[in-house]
Amino acid sequence: MKLDGKVAIVTGGAMGNGLGIVKVFLKYGADVVIIDYSDKLQQTLQELQNPKVMGYKADIRDKNMLIAVVNDVIAKKGKIDILVNNAGIAKLQPFATMQDDIRDAHFDINIKGTWNMTQAVVPYMIKNNYGKIINLSSVTGPMVADTGEVAYATTKAAILGFTKGLAMELVKNNINVNAIMPGYIMTPMVDGIAKDSNASNPQSVINGIAAGIPMGRLGTIEELGELAAFLASDEATYITGQGIVIDGASTLPETKSVGV
Ligand SMILES: NC(=O)c1ccc[n+]([C@@H]2O[C@H](COP(=O)([O-])OP(=O)(O)OC[C@H]3O[C@@H](n4cnc5c(N)ncnc54)[C@H](O)[C@@H]3O)[C@@H](O)[C@H]2O)c1
Repeated sequence: MKLDGKVAIVTGGAMGNGLGIVKVFLKYGADVVIIDYSDKLQQTLQELQNPKVMGYKADIRDKNMLIAVVNDVIAKKGKIDILVNNAGIAKLQPFATMQDDIRDAHFDINIKGTWNMTQAVVPYMIKNNYGKIINLSSVTGPMVADTGEVAYATTKAAILGFTKGLAMELVKNNINVNAIMPGYIMTPMVDGIAKDSNASNPQSVINGIAAGIPMGRLGTIEELGELAAFLASDEATYITGQGIVIDGASTLPETKSVGV
């Protein structure tokens, strides 16, 4: 299988996109390490019931903790081949009145957390002259945005810059660095956005999102996991520094009126 013998770290793997990535990586034979700060982590590990997966409860804002976790993974597994920087948050608020703590939470987790995690892992990848790093960006920021998303969009655009800068620096070390740019994938984050909205029925918000996507539905965490597995595999060795869109054509329409 395409990830046999590989050791992967997935941040935010307790639920949502991260869990989809974990499941697909396990399906393809990888050993997977989940790093997540949620209490849900323990339950997820029990539900997966797979000796090839282990978890650490840690916050990616805590760099020293991440260094300790990575040292422990190296002691147990000997190497880290794949890093998926997936953990992230999204809280919608109008820019004009947004409190600094909301802005800082986005910057600290989505940008600095990804930075911390990567810096903890990269020295081992350089030593091995091998690595695949996959960062969760979004179509939100680099391509599109809705109201209330200024903080989130800023961080997701930053992740694309981070991906390109890092890819260039690590090309000589046989390390591929790419970003995934999802449109809407059905996860607890999206559920939260629907519940936080002013609509009386959150399901109507999800239905509204689906109606705006040419494929007529949100993506699944397994579809996202398959793309991550491809980028993490040795079938994708000549791809680096790229952002790959997976969005059911949500960013494709040029107009709402022209057509046959
Ligand atoms: N769901 C979507 O439609 C969508 C679209 C584009 C991009 N993304 C990106 O995909 C990634 C995952 O999103 P999701 O929808 O699965 O979110 P989610 O909220 O459903 O899950 C996020 C996971 O990350 C963990 N996490 C958050 N902050 C953390 C921290 N500081 N330290 C450790 N763990 C932390 C959470 O506990 C949770 O398990 C995010 O980076 C998000 O920006 C999601």
